[in-house]
Amino acid sequence: MTNSQLKELLSDMSLSEKAEQLVQLHGRFFGNNDVITGQEMEFIVPEETALRTGSVLSYHGAGKIRELQDRIMSGQPHKIPAVFMTDIIHGYKTIFPAPIAQGASFNPELTKKLSEAAAKEAAAAGVHVTFSPMVDLSRDARWGRCYESTGEDPWLNARFAENAVWGYQGKDIKEKGRLAACVKHFAGYGAVLSGRDYNVTELSERTFMDDYLVPYKAAVEAGVKLVMTAFNTVDRIPCSINKKLMRDILRDGMCFNGVLISDYAAIAEAVSHGAAGDYAEAAEKAMLAGVDIDMVSQCYINNLVPLVENGIIPEELVDEAVMRILILKNELGLFENPYKDGSEEDEKTIILCDEHKKLSRDAANESIVLLKNDGLLPLKAKGKKIAVIGSLADSKKIIGAWSLFAEKSHIITLKSAFDELYPDAEITYVLSDNICEEAVSTAKNADTVIAVLGEDDSFTGESASRADITLPKGQTELFNALYEANENICTVLYGGRPLVITEIAEKSKAVVMAWFPGTCGNYSIADIIFGKVNPSGRLSMSFPYSAGQLPVSYGRFNTGRPKDDSVKHFVQFVSNYLDVPNLPLYHFGYGLSYTEYEYSKVTLDKDVLNRGGSITASVTVKNKGSMDGMEAVQLYIRDKSASVVRPLRELRGLEKVHLSAGEEKTVSFIITEEMLRFYDINMEYKSEDGGFTLWIGPDCMTDNSEEFILTAD
Ligand code: GLC
Repeated sequence: MTNSQLKELLSDMSLSEKAEQLVQLHGRFFGNNDVITGQEMEFIVPEETALRTGSVLSYHGAGKIRELQDRIMSGQPHKIPAVFMTDIIHGYKTIFPAPIAQGASFNPELTKKLSEAAAKEAAAAGVHVTFSPMVDLSRDARWGRCYESTGEDPWLNARFAENAVWGYQGKDIKEKGRLAACVKHFAGYGAVLSGRDYNVTELSERTFMDDYLVPYKAAVEAGVKLVMTAFNTVDRIPCSINKKLMRDILRDGMCFNGVLISDYAAIAEAVSHGAAGDYAEAAEKAMLAGVDIDMVSQCYINNLVPLVENGIIPEELVDEAVMRILILKNELGLFENPYKDGSEEDEKTIILCDEHKKLSRDAANESIVLLKNDGLLPLKAKGKKIAVIGSLADSKKIIGAWSLFAEKSHIITLKSAFDELYPDAEITYVLSDNICEEAVSTAKNADTVIAVLGEDDSFTGESASRADITLPKGQTELFNALYEANENICTVLYGGRPLVITEIAEKSKAVVMAWFPGTCGNYSIADIIFGKVNPSGRLSMSFPYSAGQLPVSYGRFNTGRPKDDSVKHFVQFVSNYLDVPNLPLYHFGYGLSYTEYEYSKVTLDKDVLNRGGSITASVTVKNKGSMDGMEAVQLYIRDKSASVVRPLRELRGLEKVHLSAGEEKTVSFIITEEMLRFYDINMEYKSEDGGFTLWIGPDCMTDNSEEFILTAD
C-alpha cells in the first residue's frame, strides 16, 4: 500500500479499531500455551475482542499462523492483518551460542550470519518480528539476563547490535527470510540495582548517556524497526511511561520513528511501581510517552477509547501510534501477503538444515573461551584414560532459557559429541553431580579428569538473578572430591553468566568456558579439548574474583586514590579492598589459545590529531605457534584529562584476524576525533583537546601503547 492509502485506511477506522491495533495479546489467548514469557495474570478477553488484536505474541508455525491470521482478518472491519512477534533470541529451532557467547567471539559479523539464519527459520514458521537483539550493557553477573547480552562494553555491544539488526532485517524486511528486529530493553535494564531483575536503576545521566544508551543508538542507526521498553525505572520513572526517555531521547534524540512496544505487561506495572494510580492512568502516561503497543496488559484495550472520548488523550496520539504500526505491517508486505514467508514446505527444508547446524558449531568454535591451560590441553584422543564427571556432560539443558522453540532431539550433548567424534578415546562417564564412590574411583583411575560443571538453563535468563554466583550447590564439593582423587583436572563450565570460580580455577589445570553453546556447540567443545579446534573466544564480560566486586567492568575510573594494579596486598588509604583484589579474576578481552600471538610495538603515522584529520595506528601480529588460529586485535583509548573523569580505557576498535602458523599480519586502526567524544561537563557530546593514550593488544590489560594529542587547529 502507498502512504496515502495507509492514511486513507487510518481515517476510515473507528476509534475502537485503532485502539485494538495498539494491543498485543499472548498466543495463549488463542490456545498456544507452550511459551509463557511473563507472569500469569488475571486478564480475560472475550474471543471476539481477542480476534481484533493488532498483534500476537509467542505464536508460531506456518499452518497455525495462517489459520489464526485468517480468523483475525475475517473479524477485522478493514481486514487489517495481525503482526506476529516472538522471541527468537539466538536461533529459532537451530539454536546458536547464547549472546554472551557470541560476544565472546569478538566477531560481530558472526552474529549477522546467525541472525540471518535464525530469521530464515522463523520466517518460514510464519513469524514477522523477533524481540531481538537484546543489547543491555551487562556489568553485574548476579543479573541472570546478562546471558542474553553480548557483554559489558558499550562499543562492542553496539557492533553486535547493528550486525544483529542487519542480519535479521537485511535491506528490506519484505524480502523472503527476513524479520523485523526489535532492540531491547530500552533502557539501562542491565544496571538493575544489586543485579536483582526488575529492580530500579540508579545511574548518573552521563553514565546513562555515555555507556548504557550506546548500543541502542547503534541499533536505531542500523535501522531497527521496533524498540521494546524495559521493566526498570530510569531516574525513578518506569521506562514504559517515561516521556523524557521515549520521546525526547529515543524519538527526538535518536530520530527513531519506528514502533515502540512495551515489555510484557510493563505498562500495567507502572501501577506496581507506584507511578500510576490505576491502569487508566498507566495507559494515559504510556500513550503520552509514545508507547505504541501494549504487550499483554489490559491498559490500552480497556482504557484508550474512554481516555480519548473524555478528552484526556488527544486522538492524534492514537493516530500516530496506529500509523506507525500500519507502516510496519506495510513494510513487511502483510497487506499484500498476510502470511509473509510462512510455508509448511519451507519449514521442512529450512529449519534445522545442515547449513544451520554447521553454523551453530562454527559459531561455538569462536565463542568458547579457554580460561586456563597449564599444558593439560589438548588431550590425546588415544592411549589415555579419561574420566568425564558431571550430569551436564549428557544434558540438553545447556542451550539457554530463551531457546523457546529448540528441537531437543537435535541437541548434541558433550557425551554424544565425544562418542561420535572421538570413539577411540578411553572415556568413562559418571553423569552425576553427587560425590559418590563411583565418581571418586573413576577419577582416581584416570589419567585426566574432565569435570563438567556450571549452570544449566534454569540458572540464567529472565527472573534468574543470583546473589551467590559460585557454582551451583554441591558442585564445588564434587570438584574438591575429584581434586583429592586426581589433580589432572580440566573443568568445562556451562552457563550464561561469569561465575565466581576463583577456587576452582586455582586447582584446575585447565578451564574451558562453554557458555550455552547451542544445538551443535558441544562438537566444538570436544574438538577444542582434543585440539582439533584452536580456541579463540575472548571474554566480553569480566569474571569477578568475588561477587563483592560487582558491578565490575574494565571501563573503570582511576579515582583520586588509585591503586597500582601490580600491588597485590592491601594498601591503606587507596581505593582497594581489605580482602580481595580490585581486578577481576579474568578481565575483558581475556582468553587463551593453543598458539602464541606476538605483537609488535604500536606505531603511529603521526602523534597529533587535528579535528577532521586522522591518525593511523598499526601493529604487526605474528602467530608464533604451530597451530592456525584467530586473534581478536583490540584498540583501546584513554582521554587522560577532561572536563569530567574519563574511563581508564575504552574499546574503540576491533579486528579479528586469521593467522596461519608462523604467519604475521599488520593490523591498522584509523583514529578520528569522533571516537573521542563524550558527554562533557555541560552534557554536550563532544571531544576535548588534550593528551590521549592508545593501546593495541589482545585484551584490556595490554601495555602496548602510544601517546597522541588532539588539537583544535
Ligand atoms: C519478557 C522479556 C522480553 C521478551 C518479552 C516477550 O518478559 O522481558 O525480553 O521479549 O517478555 O516474551
